[in-house]
Amino acid sequence: MKTLLSFANLAGIETELLAVLAADTQTLEGAHAKPEPTLLTSDEAVKAAAATVLASGEYKAGVNETVLLHAPAGLATKRLLIVGLGKQSKATVHGVRSAAGTAVRFTKPRGIRELVLAVPEVETLPATDSVRAAAQGAILGDFDADTYRSDRKDQSVQSFTLAASGNSDQGALQAALDEGIIVAESQNFTRSLVNEPGNKLTPMMLGHRAGQMADEVGLKWSLFSTEKIHELKMGAFWSVAQGSEEPPALIVLRYEPEGVTDGPFLGLVGKGITFDTGGISIKPSDNMEKMKYDMAGGAAMLGAMRAIALLKPKVRVLCVVCAAENMPDGKAYKPGDVVTAMSGKTIDIINTDAEGRLVLADGLCYARQLGATHLIDAATLTGAIGVALGKVNAGIFANDEETYAKFETGLATSGEKFWRMPLGEEYAELIKSDIGDIKNTGGRYGGASTAAEFLKVFAEETPWIHLDIAGTAWIDDAKPYIAKGPSGVAVRSILEWVRRF
Ligand code: BES
Ligand code: MN
Ligand code: ZN
Repeated sequence: MKTLLSFANLAGIETELLAVLAADTQTLEGAHAKPEPTLLTSDEAVKAAAATVLASGEYKAGVNETVLLHAPAGLATKRLLIVGLGKQSKATVHGVRSAAGTAVRFTKPRGIRELVLAVPEVETLPATDSVRAAAQGAILGDFDADTYRSDRKDQSVQSFTLAASGNSDQGALQAALDEGIIVAESQNFTRSLVNEPGNKLTPMMLGHRAGQMADEVGLKWSLFSTEKIHELKMGAFWSVAQGSEEPPALIVLRYEPEGVTDGPFLGLVGKGITFDTGGISIKPSDNMEKMKYDMAGGAAMLGAMRAIALLKPKVRVLCVVCAAENMPDGKAYKPGDVVTAMSGKTIDIINTDAEGRLVLADGLCYARQLGATHLIDAATLTGAIGVALGKVNAGIFANDEETYAKFETGLATSGEKFWRMPLGEEYAELIKSDIGDIKNTGGRYGGASTAAEFLKVFAEETPWIHLDIAGTAWIDDAKPYIAKGPSGVAVRSILEWVRRF
């Protein structure tokens, strides 16, 4: 999809489809307050073309609500699409992101290959923010996880143009557009990795895809396997990997901007389980196919690194992805095994399905050894986070308030939903072991917090954030602005966190 800017008059733009946003400007609340759908444009010809449908009462400008007009009177476009933002008083930049996604997803299955979206003219939404978010929404909306379907009908929208007022600061809008494109394409890179099935994306294949991306954007990278994992004494990572015919991959990417030799050094650590059967503590077969997305945390880190390489913040960033396949086998690790992590701590294995925390334990330790001063990890770590927060919010845990605050303040920009979850001595108590230093599960209750406490042991005194995206990395039901399948959650928020250093 080509993404462009135009400063022409809306009425004169010749295109297949012109999309304009509308909001409900009714300020009264309650059942009798009639919606007042209002177009967010100053173009009189567009307003006139939409006047009848807006007055009809059929269309209320609800969030992502659409109405299509063919051959609108007085306009050069063939079609006029109106997309709702909901209540104008509550309209956000994220609303613009999803409205742009909605416009693209409306267009795509109808065989229309080009569209123009009018940048909304509202005081509360700066045009640069709207352009950045709309470009993201459109590129994310254009993605479908259908690469393995030979009957795929939906072809991508070929050209998406944002039409802004002729009085805008054109340079600033172009910069915002370029940034939006980078971020969304990076998130789609993550989504395409997450969509790959276990047989098409083994741990080493994930490593090669990471390396290829790193070469494209100019990041330094290394790819290690079994030998290096033994050399580093990564006993926790190896215990998970040992049951698979597929060798594990230790993927390391580095972003070192010129002239930055000190200050914070950020360590991004991702869980890269390319398939999680549960191992000897095998999972039930229902929904097990979904466990191909158990590398979504690692893929999110790779997507964030791609965006970082292209946006060039002035801070050093390191990325470690621990990729392996969790399989039952004659050589697989077993409940009751005791393994020694890279840090020297002994882990009492209770359940081989709690494998993510094991690979991350060594990943966090390695990132510290390589010099990381601040850590962030992302993982599809626990089913418990989905029970607690549903498929709405991802979980966030942190051992340091300042580091957490940098993440929190980025959420308004990223538009992603994270909810802070508790850590604490009472949870740590639940993973104490009689046999070793720590056990790898703490029972059914508070499962997301005990898993986070486990990771915290390996972050040691380094400021650290843990993102549990098990409930949000895969979308089961399509939304108007985004396809079902891999969400690419966390890429945008991790990027915002990095930019705040
Ligand atoms: N990969 C799973 C977590 C998961 C569940 C991801 C659902 C995506 C959707 C993880 O490795 C796992 O199996 N966790 C166990 C931990 C338990 C054994 C303590 C779980 O959540 O059941
Ligand atoms: Mn598991
Ligand atoms: Zn897992």
